[in-house]
Amino acid sequence: MAKKIILDVDPGIDDAVALCLALEDPALDVLAVTATGGTVSPEQATINVQAIVEQLDPPRLPRLGCASPDQMLRTDGRHLFGADGLCGAHFAVAKRHHQHSSVKVICDEVRAAPGDVTIIATGPLTNIAAALQQQPDLASLIGHLIIIGGTLSGPGNVTAAAEFNIYCDAEAARAVFQSQTTKTLVPFDLTSRVVLNFDLLEKLPGEDSPRGELLRKILPGAFRMYRQNLGVEGIHLHDAVAVIAAIEPELFTTERMYGDVETEGTLTHGVTVFDRRRLPENRPNMDVAVDLDTAAVTQRIVRRLVE
Ligand code: RIB
Ligand code: CA
Repeated sequence: MAKKIILDVDPGIDDAVALCLALEDPALDVLAVTATGGTVSPEQATINVQAIVEQLDPPRLPRLGCASPDQMLRTDGRHLFGADGLCGAHFAVAKRHHQHSSVKVICDEVRAAPGDVTIIATGPLTNIAAALQQQPDLASLIGHLIIIGGTLSGPGNVTAAAEFNIYCDAEAARAVFQSQTTKTLVPFDLTSRVVLNFDLLEKLPGEDSPRGELLRKILPGAFRMYRQNLGVEGIHLHDAVAVIAAIEPELFTTERMYGDVETEGTLTHGVTVFDRRRLPENRPNMDVAVDLDTAAVTQRIVRRLVE
């Protein structure tokens, strides 16, 4: 039976690619796609979610959730992927007059299938923390939460020490880490091992397919931005790795750990800290991916994008 999924995303190129993978995979039943600010403002994230889902036109439309315009974020990612977060792709969207909040959609969908829903969180954890704060029993009703973010042993990508998703809303991340939810963290050090090369562009499906059209609009700009802004010949698709973790967890090695988030440090704000001492002070609160089969994960992503 297909795994029931909610994707909580801040699109973002790699979030868009994660949506491509998830919405088309028969192993997943995507119930909802909820927007959070992060890479872009909450308003832009909401528009991007709608645009990407409409562009992909999946056989079964997921519910969409909108990010709260009041979301407080420490930074955004516009310097890397442009003001719209999608390298200026310009997808047309019809204005929606009424859309439920991401938090409501998450709460509703988890309650409708208690214990059965996996949430893949590929942006700041504001929505998940708010859902858990509004409905504390939700923690035991979420089947599994897969989080992209944090670092196991650094370095960061937004500051010298911190990873972007966690840094944007470190307080929310801390609350989610400390919740009773069953969760797996896939840290930035691991997702960074997966690098997609330029030859991906030549293998993409044609513009006559919805996926081909979307990927051909966003990926060339992503390669350009990575080269110009980061000096990297290739791109990372961190969030796509999360979708593979949901479909093929056996490609990842995890360890049980106690993880927490620094919310006060000047140089270390948003840093993830794991108690790996022989005798940790607290009981483990998450599985942390410590290794992955890089070649297999990369191959799975490429195969799903080009087939
Ligand atoms: O640090 C990488 C993460 O930050 C990815 O999820 C990217 O999309 C941004 O949200
Ligand atoms: Ca993201």
